[in-house]
Amino acid sequence: MTEAPASRIALRTADASDAKELYELIQANLEEGHLLPRALGELTVHAGRFVVAVTARRIVGCAELAPLSPHVAEVRSLAVDGQARGSRVGVMIVDELRRRARHDGFEKLCAFTHAPGYFIHMGFSIVPHLWLTEKIFTDCVKCPHFRQCGQYAMVVPLDVAFDAERGYGLPAAAAAPLA
Ligand SMILES: CC(C)(COP(=O)(O)OP(=O)(O)OC[C@H]1O[C@@H](n2cnc3c(N)ncnc32)[C@H](O)[C@@H]1OP(=O)(O)O)[C@@H](O)C(=O)NCCC(=O)NCCS
Repeated sequence: MTEAPASRIALRTADASDAKELYELIQANLEEGHLLPRALGELTVHAGRFVVAVTARRIVGCAELAPLSPHVAEVRSLAVDGQARGSRVGVMIVDELRRRARHDGFEKLCAFTHAPGYFIHMGFSIVPHLWLTEKIFTDCVKCPHFRQCGQYAMVVPLDVAFDAERGYGLPAAAAAPLA
């Protein structure tokens, strides 16, 4: 199948009725993305934190904006369907999360990933895990892979000047025309 052009991708907030599709997309990318497994019930409860990329009414990409503290939010469960890759769907989603996080008053956006190159591309920097104690005390201490997960802690400031200089966090409509 051909790649979905970004111009035919729309971004929207997910709702509980999307939970099953979110679950399937995350499950399909668990191994490749070293994603944390998500339960269907948890996704139903937190669906409203997800931005989804949709084409022909099908969800082809997703990520959650999860608050870790009043200052720090995390990009979680970022996944793009194999057939929709390479069309900047992932960048559009992260950029939208960045815009929402900034709008909501967070100061930093972080991600924990095995793919640091992808996030560096979007202005994130690798930082010591200890710089994100919010994540360590919220999730890491409960994780069986604590201290040996091999994930990179990444962070980007949600600073208006930083974003404006690099063109990040524009409204989605300005970044790519919607269907
Ligand atoms: C990583 C992922 C979200 C990228 O989605 P995508 O929509 O295909 O990516 P984009 O089209 O937005 O990529 C934009 C750029 O990043 C680059 N890129 C893509 N995946 C990359 C990776 N893993 N590492 C480094 N760069 C990457 C692309 O080549 C592209 O570069 P360009 O701007 O020079 O053309 C997708 O491959 C995926 O779902 N992977 C499985 C799950 C996963 O790894 N999630 C992230 C873990 S936190």
